[in-house]
Amino acid sequence: MTRVFSGIQPTGELHLGNYLGAIRRWVDAQHTDDAIHCVVDLHAITVPQDPASLRAKTIEVTQVLVSAGLDPDVCTLFVQSQVAEHAELSWIMECTAAFGELRRMTQFKDKSDRTDFVSAGLFTYPALQAADILLYDTEKVPVGDDQRQHIELARDLATRFNHRYGDTFVVPAHDIPPVAARVMDLQAPERKMSKSVDSPQGTVLVLDEPAVIERKFKRAVTDSGGEVRYDPEAKPGVSNLLSILAAATGGDPEALAGGYSRYGPLKADTAEAVVEMLRPLQARFAELAADPGETDRILRVGADKARKMAGATMVRVRDRLGLPAI
Ligand code: TRP
Repeated sequence: MTRVFSGIQPTGELHLGNYLGAIRRWVDAQHTDDAIHCVVDLHAITVPQDPASLRAKTIEVTQVLVSAGLDPDVCTLFVQSQVAEHAELSWIMECTAAFGELRRMTQFKDKSDRTDFVSAGLFTYPALQAADILLYDTEKVPVGDDQRQHIELARDLATRFNHRYGDTFVVPAHDIPPVAARVMDLQAPERKMSKSVDSPQGTVLVLDEPAVIERKFKRAVTDSGGEVRYDPEAKPGVSNLLSILAAATGGDPEALAGGYSRYGPLKADTAEAVVEMLRPLQARFAELAADPGETDRILRVGADKARKMAGATMVRVRDRLGLPAI
């Protein structure tokens, strides 16, 4: 089985784009891959976070992943900060990376332009990400195109370390997965649904109540001309609804278009399909949320599994570097 590592930040609320674009695929892949899912709270604190909200989000993201069907007995699901080896290897990766190499990271340039307090951690963020990946002998990292540069860096750091100190790390491959469904903002269908954009009406959250989901779809921006046709260029709003309906029902957007002559019924059917798709997830979430001890238990088991693997890697790393064993 292929060792696959995914990281998810405990910030913002999980939405339909996260679900259809990533989470649902993780659930399907857990039986064919040796999958590790890490809630990356140390990455989240590269920008200031409110402690109560960080704590709540970390638990909530975990509960959503489990509710979506990630089985903590099948995959490894844990919180990054509970496995101290991440911070430890991160330092070593900072000493493996060149300053100029980190300075070229475009995500740092984007993010540092948008905040007035730029932490040193925001700058070294990709070194921590490399540590996440390399601790687990990861073979594949399925991420979107925006993370390509960070995965390239992880490969370069692994190769450099191996070259300097002898074979230590598996060099991971990035695996840009085929776009399962491009879910666009319901109010601005030319841009991706995103947790970082402030568009509450355009973003369908996986934990939104059915009535809220229905209202958001009812108010979705459509296109001029009343005809229903799958044409993302000319009709981004209607095409987005068709893509979502197709992803939720397993159909094909172009074929589905033929069944509609007006926008109203398309919106209503899409809303209903999404509500039905999310219903089991929301029911399991309600159960988990009512029993906080269960989530703690899941995370303890996950951290124990992760620590075994990460600890073994760190024994190797310390030895190669000339650091004493602990
Ligand atoms: N940087 C990733 C993001 O913002 C999250 C992440 C952290 C990650 N560590 C990772 C993704 C390791 C893949 C592998 O989406």
